[in-house]
Amino acid sequence: MSQQHTPLVVGNWKLNPTTLEAAKKLFLAVRTGLPRTTLTTVAIAPPLPFITELARLSARSRIQLGAQSVFPVNSGAHTGEVSLPMLESVGINMVIVGHSERRARGLTNEEIRDALATLSKSTVTSILCVGETKRDKEGHYYSVVENQLRSALALVPKVKLNRLVIAYEPVWAIGSGKQATPEDVYEMKLFIQKVIAQLFGRSAIPKVRILYGGSVVAAGVEDLLTVGQMDGFLVGGASLKPKEFISIINSTEKNGKKTAKN
Ligand code: PGA
Repeated sequence: MSQQHTPLVVGNWKLNPTTLEAAKKLFLAVRTGLPRTTLTTVAIAPPLPFITELARLSARSRIQLGAQSVFPVNSGAHTGEVSLPMLESVGINMVIVGHSERRARGLTNEEIRDALATLSKSTVTSILCVGETKRDKEGHYYSVVENQLRSALALVPKVKLNRLVIAYEPVWAIGSGKQATPEDVYEMKLFIQKVIAQLFGRSAIPKVRILYGGSVVAAGVEDLLTVGQMDGFLVGGASLKPKEFISIINSTEKNGKKTAKN
């Protein structure tokens, strides 16, 4: 089944750049280079200290702002955390949840589940990251992804699935310069959809967008969209290079049109 969504390209800046000045420069370079189009949704998830300034710069642009994580409690004695009402109050409308770099630092399945449950009570879009650390010939990586999905989605109501995006990000592909093949990505998309159907029923499948992340560069985008049937991309390293990021958006715009209906 081919999924039909408007494409989504999200830049995950991670812990970059190191100053507000550099963040503004990078953001403006992307804003200036964006194609005049309304099809592809473009979002950037910068480090939180830059959000307010970038929200000002994004005000009249088509760039949406995302956060790289959220704590599932609104306020209280939780040093170092940031809550959903805080993010909403500075104009964030997308949040990445369960990125492998946070899982590696101890983020638990329960925290991911609770973050998605909290987000599902709002109008903010959740981008849930799933992916195996390694591929094996026996296909155990499928059960890794299945467990991540079942656990993370346990408290998300079906009616909120249209605000859920799943980013398939094989950990071995992140920052390695090695992308998953479009064929492998397509198989994983079908598998993710199968799990969604088991959890929520077949009618849930078209509600959920599925992105690919892991060493995305412009050169691989066409095949990942057409053969891989991805609905877009979560881009790390290449989102820090405005020309490359804009090429990814342009290529998504061109090839996403072949499959998108709305
Ligand atoms: P990468 O990162 O594009 O640098 O591989 C992707 C991600 O971690 O979201």
